[in-house]
Amino acid sequence: MPAPIRPDEAGAAPCDPAHVPVHVGIIMDGNGRWATARRLPRVEGHRRGVEALRRCVRAARELGIRYLTIYSFSSENWTRPHHEIAELMGLLKLFVRRDLAELRAANVRIRVIGARAGLGKDIAALLDEAEALTAANTGLTLVVAFNYGARQEITAAAASIAADVAQGLLKPEDVDEDLLSSRLETAGIPDPDLIIRTSGEQRLSNFLLWQAAYAEFVFLPLFWPDFDKDALRGALEEYARRDRRFGGVMPCPAP
Ligand code: IPE
Ligand code: IPE
Ligand code: MG
Repeated sequence: MPAPIRPDEAGAAPCDPAHVPVHVGIIMDGNGRWATARRLPRVEGHRRGVEALRRCVRAARELGIRYLTIYSFSSENWTRPHHEIAELMGLLKLFVRRDLAELRAANVRIRVIGARAGLGKDIAALLDEAEALTAANTGLTLVVAFNYGARQEITAAAASIAADVAQGLLKPEDVDEDLLSSRLETAGIPDPDLIIRTSGEQRLSNFLLWQAAYAEFVFLPLFWPDFDKDALRGALEEYARRDRRFGGVMPCPAP
């Protein structure tokens, strides 16, 4: 009997186009555990997480990524202790205030997805300002998922379509994947090619559920505050080794 072929052998080059992903999503996880392992308060992990985010955005630009979506605060993170939520809100404000000028000068376009309702007025205004001041930029698009939950996003899209159908603006047969995609907050942004999650957890935690239908996943065994350009490069190398089939078959060279 011939030796079984392992999946990684079956999918190896020459069918492998080693491309940089257009859109990378990152679930920045493990701040609390990074801090706890050092006997520091969890909030110290969040502070160091902001530094990792800065490194990450710089590295994404240098490596030629076009869209970077960072999961910063989930709809479910409101269940955390009040002081931790306050710290996370404060850090977002600090990040926008301190980094907006540099991001703007670096031709980064900022988009924010997630519910604005429920956020403080000052944060909502800062996010609006960050989007407005960078709207004409043409380099990396940095999508900040803040107070974001994919189920909530899909539910809102479905409700807006239902309202249009009820008013006679749309017919039920007009509802297709493109229409639903166009009602999501990510309208106009290509689906993520690669989703990275740090901290070793292997789940989506309500991140881009619709958009990630054919994303590749890389789970890194490091906590977010330790993330750097080498970690991003390693994830891109892993991505380049993957065969993306989208339900089809790989075109193989003639024997
Ligand atoms: C990620 O780190 C930051 C947010 C979710 C806002 P965590 O705070 O989830 O860190 P762990 O998972 O508890 O270590
Ligand atoms: C996901 O991390 C949310 C963000 C990174 C912002 P969590 O730490 O909240 O996810 P769970 O609770 O481990 O699934
Ligand atoms: Mg976590």
